[in-house]
Amino acid sequence: MKKRIFSGVAPSGTIHIGNYLGALKNWVKLQDEFESIFCVVDMHAITLPRDPEELKRKTLDVAKIYLASGIDPAKCSLFIQSHVSEHAELSWILNTIAKTGELSRMTQFKDKSELATGNKDLSESVPLGIFNYPILMAADILLYDTNLVPVGEDQLQHIELTRILAKRFNNKFGETFVIPEGHVQKEGMRIMGLDDPTKKMSKSAASEYNYIALTDDEETVRRKIKKAVTDSGSEIVYRDDKPALMNLINIYSLLSDISAKEIEKKYEGKGYAEFKSDLADIVVEFLKPFQKKIAELSDEKVLEILLEGAKKVRPIAKTKLDEVKKKIGFII
Ligand code: AMP
Ligand code: TRP
Repeated sequence: MKKRIFSGVAPSGTIHIGNYLGALKNWVKLQDEFESIFCVVDMHAITLPRDPEELKRKTLDVAKIYLASGIDPAKCSLFIQSHVSEHAELSWILNTIAKTGELSRMTQFKDKSELATGNKDLSESVPLGIFNYPILMAADILLYDTNLVPVGEDQLQHIELTRILAKRFNNKFGETFVIPEGHVQKEGMRIMGLDDPTKKMSKSAASEYNYIALTDDEETVRRKIKKAVTDSGSEIVYRDDKPALMNLINIYSLLSDISAKEIEKKYEGKGYAEFKSDLADIVVEFLKPFQKKIAELSDEKVLEILLEGAKKVRPIAKTKLDEVKKKIGFII
């Protein structure tokens, strides 16, 4: 039997090349080797306030991005989280075995609650959904007996919590859940912000100069790369003390399959201007066919694929949830 992978992206903010290089690119590779389930996690998106029309739009747009990246519905299941209500049900049950302390230690919770309140005071105004977001993620993963969860590095803490909850449930009620493992692709694991190489490129960044969106047009890409911060000095070198350059070289390398060493060599004696101009060419060339595919996908076609995906995975989720319900003493 093939091992199973599960992963998802929330339809919020702007999907960027960090999401592609850190997550999607890896999924596309893995779908040949594993039984793959990919999800648009709309229930995670509403942990911060969203405009309903925009949420609908983004849900389809994220699915289009999956498909344009090379996720193939003939090889895997692709669906919308809220279409399979077992996710919400299992999430409630897992809530009852998780501890508040475990959740308050999650770094994404700390970051997001600052975002929600505008300060470091985790006060009355932090939405509860941000707090137990990782439990819903655990439910997503555990419902499908997932073996591997391909994500960017920032999600490993949530996967660790998933493992803890699964083991706790198994100990209390008997073997029920497969203990999943995170799967991080080394190179793309952390693409940093173009405006600040000490922070990761982020969907919810305040400035558009933080990221290159997968939907950015050529002019925007060139403007953003031109403006990207660089380190002091002028040589193109891949070194820890030059984090901005390291990040740009990483992006260059991942999109062109030229190693960092070769890139250093190629730009010996040359300056930032030439390097950046070539990098912009590479990003633009990468985005062109990608955006063409997105434009060719109609909303109707994508929704059809998503509904088909939900139909395929629902029985798996239902079987697992029924098992859980029986074990905890619900009458089913
Ligand atoms: P998010 O943008 O937080 O919804 O994340 C969606 C997926 O993209 C997750 O698997 C993340 O780990 C991954 N990801 C997000 N930002 C980055 C980044 N800057 N570099 C690498 N991977 C990322
Ligand atoms: N929390 C993940 C993120 O922010 C998205 C996500 C939700 C996810 N459920 C998941 C990822 C299950 C992997 C598996 O990126």
